[in-house]
Amino acid sequence: MTPVPRTSSIDSTLALLAEGYTFISARCDELRTDIFRTRLMLRPVLCMRGEAAAQLFYGSEDVTRVGSMPWTVLRLLQDKHSVQQLDGEMHRQRKKMFIDLAMSGGSVAGLVDRFRHHWLAQVGNRETGRSDLREIANLVLTKASADWIGIPGRNRDDRGLANSLARMIDNTGRLGPSAWLALMFRWRTERWLLKIVEAVRDGSLQLREECALKTICLLYRDADGRALSTEAAAVELLNLLRPIAAISRWIEFLCLALASDPNWRERFRSGHDEEIEGFIEEVRRLYPFFPFVGARLKKDLVWQDHPLRKGDWLLLDLYGTMHDPRLFPQPAVFNPKRGSSWRDGDFRFIPQGGGRPETSHRCPGEKITVEILQETLKLVCRSQSVRITPADAIVPLGSVPASPAPPISIILADAEPNAVAARSRR
Ligand code: HEM
Repeated sequence: MTPVPRTSSIDSTLALLAEGYTFISARCDELRTDIFRTRLMLRPVLCMRGEAAAQLFYGSEDVTRVGSMPWTVLRLLQDKHSVQQLDGEMHRQRKKMFIDLAMSGGSVAGLVDRFRHHWLAQVGNRETGRSDLREIANLVLTKASADWIGIPGRNRDDRGLANSLARMIDNTGRLGPSAWLALMFRWRTERWLLKIVEAVRDGSLQLREECALKTICLLYRDADGRALSTEAAAVELLNLLRPIAAISRWIEFLCLALASDPNWRERFRSGHDEEIEGFIEEVRRLYPFFPFVGARLKKDLVWQDHPLRKGDWLLLDLYGTMHDPRLFPQPAVFNPKRGSSWRDGDFRFIPQGGGRPETSHRCPGEKITVEILQETLKLVCRSQSVRITPADAIVPLGSVPASPAPPISIILADAEPNAVAARSRR
């Protein structure tokens, strides 16, 4: 057996904070390996990349997500009562609830309809001029998801909620005061959701027939036959609201990709719908979002001839795996013809995890993500009045989560006839 290669530095925390998305793959390349040992925040960790590593994370029962993330990251993302912190039968049953809610055709179509409605209202009602794209997309997605989940408008402050969700997402990779402030916004959002759950359960909030709020609060039972605790129900509601709002980050990258080569926009304006999915999937491969995910080994095992120990902390490099030239030739080139698809459930194209979502921790939100992005592409490409700028924004890989610099704006220029009419009626 071969010992796992080590980095020369005792602790790599500062290097990780400086290098961000390229931290793991740079060391893998340097040490000519797909696994290396180092320390982060003084704790020993094994960093991995590639298809076999993704198989360990998403195709085996040998790892758990419990104890795999720093406390602040866990609180800002999934949280301790969530599906991601479960294993075995408890996980499968809770995951089935997410899959039923987020992957059935009718349910996703309902969310996309609401997204289109709020996009047209938000973008169509704007005066001509420049607006921050991610901010608009975040608000539109927040409104659409809250409607879709079934939270009545009178119980919401959409702008406040959109702001809180954005803070949680923006601060997942940060330390210090801004992360603490984001935790405070998370705590406030959870308090609000706890009250909603209580109101649904005591009947003071009446619900329309089918919606996620009803499923989570009233209908769902865990594998042990129990309803979700009020806290777990609030956490899982937030596990729909927060990641749906986070699609605003992909929307920004999607529009940057469209602006970088205007031929694409022209092409999609005149049809070519069959090429849209390849374009979207290449955006999700090329642009950085989730850098890596964590896990803990549940038993001793030998991986690729390396001895690993029960309890070892592992990080899987999602970004590095999708930029590995052995898996994606010329990985820096934007090529929508690569044929990647979330439907394949493979262990190479892993922007939101790999393998089967039913039996692993793979994201249940990929159908939603891809369909919202397809809708955005159509809305942007088929509107004459929306311009995207700047086309030459760069995406620095040192900060997590990454964003274009400068941020992408949309400019409403020559308005379409119906938008002009709507404005002149006001
Ligand atoms: C915005 C784009 C998104 C990205 C980049 C993303 C990324 C991810 C990743 C990488 C994982 C795997 C975590 C792990 O292996 O431990 C994950 C899991 C998860 N995602 Fe997403 N996601 C997104 C959208 C969504 C959406 C729209 C939903 C809502 C349905 C969602 C809900 C979840 C849940 C509940 C899990 C935990 C699954 C489990 O542990 O079994 N995500 N996501």
